Amino acid sequence: MTHKPRVVVALDVSSREQALDLARTLRPATDWVKIGLELFTSCGPRIVQEIKDLDYNVFLDLKLMDIPNTVRKSVSNCIDLGVDMLTLHLLGGEKMINAAIDARDGRDFQARSRPALVGVTLLTSLDRSDLPWPESRSLYDVVPDLASRAGRWGLDGVVCSGGEAAGIKKSAMEDFCLVTPGIRPGETLEDQKRAVTPSMAMEAGATHLVIGRPVTASRDPLESLMQIRRELSANLQGAAYGGHGKESA
Ligand code: C5P
Repeated sequence: MTHKPRVVVALDVSSREQALDLARTLRPATDWVKIGLELFTSCGPRIVQEIKDLDYNVFLDLKLMDIPNTVRKSVSNCIDLGVDMLTLHLLGGEKMINAAIDARDGRDFQARSRPALVGVTLLTSLDRSDLPWPESRSLYDVVPDLASRAGRWGLDGVVCSGGEAAGIKKSAMEDFCLVTPGIRPGETLEDQKRAVTPSMAMEAGATHLVIGRPVTASRDPLESLMQIRRELSANLQGAAYGGHGKESA
């Protein structure tokens, strides 16, 4: 059954004013944004609270990867900022991921919901030709392998391309998050390689669509985002008439 995913806008800009302007403009069409390295390194941690003050859920995409002790303390610091979702590289290994989960699970979340920890498989800007390992190891083996480790290690989900989401979903727990960047409603790929349309990602079972430039760099960001939402709703309705659709909150 197809569910409507959350649409998370990547606020990849380098100024606080631009980020807050975009966030205010887009709030009627989404309640999730992603703060990544570009915004975080230009504005610092306080941007998280400023965005949360606009009533957003914040996905902090720092793609942490370091020794377990450093990651434990960094995850704890991110939790202090009030983030709702946080990324770690799965290539950091099981001990690093365990340290991150310990840092989160040692905290009391009575006053707010527990932040989700999701593992980055392979960046959607990479394809087979970018990988350092032998030709025989296909990307389509590596990503599901990393995703199944993420589930076993106790993470809440993974970041993968829309093209890989359906395969991962088949063997994942019901509530496992499938976060898919590399979403392209049109033809322009920019630096993305494993890109799919919003509807393709939804049909593959993505729970969170991460969309940056197709919205933020467009002439009318709110209209571009609304257009994507309309496409998803129309597609979901079509699936419902065929008996496969379900609209979720
Ligand atoms: O502008 P665009 O839609 O390509 O933005 C995609 C966003 O998703 C960027 O913020 C990028 O850092 C992030 N991302 C990605 N691939 C991953 C994980 C995150 O593109 N595997």
